[in-house]
Amino acid sequence: MRQTVRGLVLSLAFTLQASLAIAQAAPTDRPWMNPALSPDLRADMVERQMTQAEKLRLVFGFSGRNQGAHFIASPKALGSAGYVPGVPRLGVPDLQETDAGIGVAWAHGVRPNRKTVSLPSGLATAATWDPAIGFAGGAMIGEEAHRNGFNMLLAGGVDLDREPRNGRNFEYGGEDPLLAGMMVGAQIAGIQSRHVAATVKHFALNDQESGRMTVSSDIAPTAARESDLLAFEIAIEAGHPASTMCSYNRVNGVYACENPFLLTTVLKGDWAWPGFVMSDWGADHSTVAAANAGLDQESGESYDDQPFFGEALAQAVASGQVSQARLEDMAHRILRALFAVGAIDDPPTQTPLDFAADSAVSQADAEQGAVLLKNRGGLLPLRASTASGGKALRIAVIGGHADVGVLSGGGSSQVVPPAGIALTVGPALFPGPAVYQASSPLEAIAARAGAGRVRFASGEDVAAAAKLAADSDVVIVFATRWQGEATDAPDLSLPDDQDALIAAVAKANPRTLVVLETGAAVLTPWRGQVAAILEAWYPGSSGGEAIARLLFGEVGPAGRLPITFPDSEAQLPRPVLDGAGVSGQLDSLPRFDVNYDLEGPLVGYKWFETRGLTPAYAFGTGLSYTRFSYGALEAHPNAGGVSVSFDVTNTGARAGAAVPQIYVTVHPPGEPQHNRLAGWSKLVLQPGERRHVTVQVPTRMLAAWDEAAHGWHVAAGDYAVLLAAAADDVEARVTVSVGEGRLAP
Ligand code: BGC
Repeated sequence: MRQTVRGLVLSLAFTLQASLAIAQAAPTDRPWMNPALSPDLRADMVERQMTQAEKLRLVFGFSGRNQGAHFIASPKALGSAGYVPGVPRLGVPDLQETDAGIGVAWAHGVRPNRKTVSLPSGLATAATWDPAIGFAGGAMIGEEAHRNGFNMLLAGGVDLDREPRNGRNFEYGGEDPLLAGMMVGAQIAGIQSRHVAATVKHFALNDQESGRMTVSSDIAPTAARESDLLAFEIAIEAGHPASTMCSYNRVNGVYACENPFLLTTVLKGDWAWPGFVMSDWGADHSTVAAANAGLDQESGESYDDQPFFGEALAQAVASGQVSQARLEDMAHRILRALFAVGAIDDPPTQTPLDFAADSAVSQADAEQGAVLLKNRGGLLPLRASTASGGKALRIAVIGGHADVGVLSGGGSSQVVPPAGIALTVGPALFPGPAVYQASSPLEAIAARAGAGRVRFASGEDVAAAAKLAADSDVVIVFATRWQGEATDAPDLSLPDDQDALIAAVAKANPRTLVVLETGAAVLTPWRGQVAAILEAWYPGSSGGEAIARLLFGEVGPAGRLPITFPDSEAQLPRPVLDGAGVSGQLDSLPRFDVNYDLEGPLVGYKWFETRGLTPAYAFGTGLSYTRFSYGALEAHPNAGGVSVSFDVTNTGARAGAAVPQIYVTVHPPGEPQHNRLAGWSKLVLQPGERRHVTVQVPTRMLAAWDEAAHGWHVAAGDYAVLLAAAADDVEARVTVSVGEGRLAP
């Protein structure tokens, strides 16, 4: 896997070099426009020419659009999330910023005239376990941003799914630091391959939305380093984002955007990350504390209680409360990042989008990320009407507005797709409404099932749905749960009595399959009663087509869960969400703490394992339309960690994607012994095909954070290396002896 990402990064470097080689020679009055010079040198050269006012302007961001009468955006702003005036006389462009990881989101809410392709949710992309898919999606949305005139995408969300009710889990990469970090890092690299700056966010531990402006995520440093911070560290190493967005919440009592531990000790110190820190919109609370803690740019100042940079920062620098060197470091970091990603050498243009090509990228992501959780008796794949033998199936499609479209997540990441919005339901106010993107699963299913073979029921009338089910050969229930920014789900159940609908339909016809369109994990109390379950997440703007292709076997399900599906909320570290119902953007809301030391680094499957809990579906789970066997497992220490090799064989009758996972058993001081994902591979095998696979486990995945020594420590000893099909499905194990080692932070 690391190899794959290294390959992607090399190809990124090559693309960058090639495009820079054709750039015109630097004009003699602007020597920093010479792409052959290092980004640091170029940034220094520009910064030396800047006046104090220009430096102060570069670190002070505005909303890119009007906020009622309260704020009128610059006429030069494109009308999206953010705008920072550049320094035109020196060739430094304005920063035009837009959300987010799923596509170019022009506006909070819905602006039907600004259409862009929507990727599946971030969690769906993580479920592909394929960094090449993450990179391709990033490159696609980066290209669409560039062609819309944006040079910065506020994309790269990697907060861990520590709290399964978190309303933004759909934007992130799941519960495991390595998987989330690698997948989101690949997306960031993809975005920046199109010379658009990316933003890893929301730093850090912004793991619930309830009370997001006031909550304190309380956690011991060691636990943070081995979990949430590790996900950021890996994403930054893999993607080299231009920017990091500090989050709304407090961490151990201190607001993230004025938190010296997060911004200076860890991000810029230990990780030696050279980019710039921008505040989330409304996350800055101070001038001196924020600037000295490491904030480099105030974003969307009208969202903050008052402008904290601008004139206030000018005064703080004049009085010496913030040093001149700190201001220059802020400016340097911003300039350096823009040079490094090519945003200055290759400015964005207004160019028509290629919806067909971009939709193909989104559709492939949806197809690779859908997870088949159950398939009793091989109900799937369904037989198309064109298949030889047998009569065409009579199919009932029920619920989920499957007649018109597929669900998407709410909030700042909301995209208006090329075919438009089919339906909006639910709350009128942000993060609403819930948007169904026009891509009808019903139509795509009907196209394959044959004329007159498919009937639809909305599911509102349970008795009518059950009657239709009883009179059909196969039933497909679409079950949805909408989630959005700024709110959390009250619990993990499907809303609107959908559990009762599924149970009634399955009782009427046992050949019932459920397609889930959810932001993250949901409870599945009916899982014993239905024949098949496909988790399609929020599948993006070609989602209807992708789902139908999966159901009819035109493509095999290839996703694996990047999260655990609990059996009940009682299994969670916090059976009841802290601060449930505290919502809104006001800093005057009640302050409260969430104790993340309850589970510490044992997020998701690690919690379930160490507590002896059996989830509904474990992390890493996912079936395909074929079967695999595993063997010949070996593990040998090497310079970079441990080299693990094994055989995978497709023992079934169809081609399919295997995702063999390597876990190591670790026992860090003060923690219970547990398994940790340490690497994986994804490969497509033809029937009967066997492949020998090698996975490199990086040393860090064996290490524990040593707070006293301020670094990673690998204890000498024997480590169990597990080859698994899921966190709870170990196929083989070997032991490897590893010598003591220390790694810099
Ligand atoms: C969100 C960020 C987003 C920003 C700008 C904030 O409310 O938390 O993720 O990038 O708005 O739209």
